Amino acid sequence: MPHNEEQDAEALMSRRKMMGVVVGVINLGLIAVVGLPVAEFVTSPLQTKRKKVWVELMPDDQIAPGEVKEVNFSMKIVDGYHETERKYTVYVRRDEAGVMAIDPACTHLGCRVRYQTDKHRFVCPCHGGVFNDDGTNKSGPPPKPLERHPVKVENGKIWVEREV
Ligand code: FES
Repeated sequence: MPHNEEQDAEALMSRRKMMGVVVGVINLGLIAVVGLPVAEFVTSPLQTKRKKVWVELMPDDQIAPGEVKEVNFSMKIVDGYHETERKYTVYVRRDEAGVMAIDPACTHLGCRVRYQTDKHRFVCPCHGGVFNDDGTNKSGPPPKPLERHPVKVENGKIWVEREV
C-alpha cells in the first residue's frame, strides 16, 4: 500500500474512533438527562419511609380498671401510588399500672382474636389459641403474647401510636 493510502486509512480509523467516543459521550449524557429523573420518579414511592403517628382512641374516663374495650379507627395509608383509608382495631385495657393497647392479630398465624368479657380472655377462632386479658399467651399454638402498641394518656384522651 502506498504511503498516502496508509495514512488516509489510519486517519479514517482515527476519525471513526473519535466519532465512536463522541457518540458514546452523547448517549451517556442522554441517559443522565432523561433516564435518571425517570428512574427517580418510578422508584420514589418505594423509598418512602413509614412514619409513626399518634391516633386518638377514646376519652380516658371511659375505661375503668380491669376493663378491656375494643376500639376501631381508620387511618389514611400511602402505599406506593395508592392512598387508602385502612381500618384498624385495638383492644384497650386498663389495670393498676395504666393503659395498654393490644393488637388483635393472633401471634400464631395472624387470625383476629376476640375478647370474651365474661372469661376475661382473648380467643383465636382459627386454632383455639387463648390469651389472658393482658395479651399474654395462655394455651394453644400461639408462640408469644399479642403485640402491644405504644399508648399514652394526654389531654384526657387515650392515644395509640401506629405506623403509616
Ligand atoms: S391463628 Fe390463632 S391459633 Fe392459629
